[in-house]
Amino acid sequence: MPKETPKDTPTSSPPDARPKAARRASAERSVAVIGAGPSGLAVVKALRDRDIPVTCFERGSRIGGLWVFEGVNGTSPAYSTLHLNSSRTRTEFADHPMPGDWPHYPHHTQIASYLNDYAERFDLLGAVRLDSDVEAVTREDDGTWTVTGTGPGGRFRHSFTAVVAASGHNWEARWPTPYPGTFGGDQMHSHDYRSPRQLAGKRVLVVGGGNSAMDIAVDSSHHAVHTTLSIREGVWVIPKHLLGRPSDTLGALTRRLPWQARQVLLERVLRTIVGPPQHYGLPAPRHGLLAAHPTLSDSLLARITHGEITPAPGIRALDGDAVVFDDGARREIDLIVWCTGYEVTIPYLRPEQIPGSPEAMTLYLKIFPPDAEGLYFAGYTQSTGSAFPVGEAQARLIAAHVAGAYRLPPRQVRLARYRRDVRAARERWGDKRPAMRIDGDEYIGLLRRELSGSGVRGSR
Ligand SMILES: Cc1cc2nc3c(=O)[nH]c(=O)nc-3n(C[C@H](O)[C@H](O)[C@H](O)COP(=O)(O)OP(=O)(O)OC[C@H]3O[C@@H](n4cnc5c(N)ncnc54)[C@H](O)[C@@H]3O)c2cc1C
Ligand SMILES: NC(=O)c1ccc[n+]([C@@H]2O[C@H](COP(=O)([O-])OP(=O)(O)OC[C@H]3O[C@@H](n4cnc5c(N)ncnc54)[C@H](OP(=O)(O)O)[C@@H]3O)[C@@H](O)[C@H]2O)c1
Repeated sequence: MPKETPKDTPTSSPPDARPKAARRASAERSVAVIGAGPSGLAVVKALRDRDIPVTCFERGSRIGGLWVFEGVNGTSPAYSTLHLNSSRTRTEFADHPMPGDWPHYPHHTQIASYLNDYAERFDLLGAVRLDSDVEAVTREDDGTWTVTGTGPGGRFRHSFTAVVAASGHNWEARWPTPYPGTFGGDQMHSHDYRSPRQLAGKRVLVVGGGNSAMDIAVDSSHHAVHTTLSIREGVWVIPKHLLGRPSDTLGALTRRLPWQARQVLLERVLRTIVGPPQHYGLPAPRHGLLAAHPTLSDSLLARITHGEITPAPGIRALDGDAVVFDDGARREIDLIVWCTGYEVTIPYLRPEQIPGSPEAMTLYLKIFPPDAEGLYFAGYTQSTGSAFPVGEAQARLIAAHVAGAYRLPPRQVRLARYRRDVRAARERWGDKRPAMRIDGDEYIGLLRRELSGSGVRGSR
């Protein structure tokens, strides 16, 4: 633990009144990490590996981020039936493989225990302050950072030389803009879905074409009276296994090819083995296979072909006890589950501390803000693959920068790189969060190259 401000201070305490020199000395090379999910834990480890003192603040009472089922005061969106949708070997940290006898797509309880093992193996737990909710992060005139919040001992206030925001972006429900009409039945967001019991005995409408919608529609098809799945824009539904292996390992086999060539190849495999989504009554995708966040499900198409899920297009209107779809069909519904994704929010940073909007931060390599020295972001990406190795690669670069072993290029070079990345992302993924989009394998390779070529180009 770093030797920052000695003890928790009461709510009414004035701004840190210690002399600047004392504040700077106590904060010397100590780093605050906000969040003990996969990204935050990887950052703690990377800093520890470089002997940099670190304190990690976690608002939940267990480490593991959203993989802690019902563990983070209701902020985790995990549900009882949740399994990985990125395969085991493509998800594990390079530093800590998952047990070889685990299934290809482990259950969320296994992932929570894996993250716990990771923290225990590398002795990270001592750096984590649980039940500690960070409420504000402030840059002082002398360049140190003050982190304030509420913990087990009441209000706390600590000084650090650097802060890493690693608080995740899948916990603030994004509700749709209201549809015309009113609905008399029940409604919930996928964030609040915990178990199929919530669906039992109801006529359920699941809305969305992402992975939450896939899982919840399949659960619903086994427990509800009937399930309708409304997807407004076509998506490719990729089985978790293709050609007898986890489908994300196929992408890995072809990763040296440009993504357009990979797309042609993989789309051909999918069309041949599964057929296009419209053969199952789903809308036709307007984008290529690799030009959207992957939607994976082994069971969805089978439940449609068994008549247990009825596909529907987008919603035209709500109509009392029913919903009217774009094709004019009207279905009576008891419960709508909005699987409409998540807002990116970082509430402990003031808007002016966030470079751009939370969904479109002008970060160099998705990590480094253009101006705020000593502030880093980890985990604010939308990857084609697993989030874990991405967080691990970011963590190593952050730790190297804090240690002075990696230097950033000049500001204008960083901003030019940011603009180039966003342009390329727009060409591939369109306008949906282009500033957060990464091709997982390419990005991890890029960060490794940055690290190995460290110190060549610029100033800290
Ligand atoms: C349902 C679901 C399934 C998913 N499945 C996969 C998958 O199969 N494979 C995959 O790679 N990714 C998956 N993801 C993406 C997921 O975001 C990542 O797996 C991973 O959890 C990201 O780690 P993180 O540490 O960045 O964020 P999180 O796991 O969200 O962790 C953030 C942590 O920060 C803490 N925190 C937040 N605010 C504060 C604060 N103010 N003060 C203190 N602590 C705070 C939170 O309590 C939490 O513990 C899934 C996402 C969802 C929603
Ligand atoms: N391990 C797993 O099995 C698993 C399970 C669940 C989630 N996840 C992960 O968790 C993250 C979030 O996934 P998610 O599925 O919750 O969200 P998501 O990927 O953001 O998908 C949201 C879906 O809702 C649709 N939508 C948004 N607004 C809508 C509206 N107003 N009306 C109708 N449809 C609307 C979107 O369609 P448009 O494209 O048209 O906007 C999209 O299909 C992803 O990274 C995902 O991979 C993983």
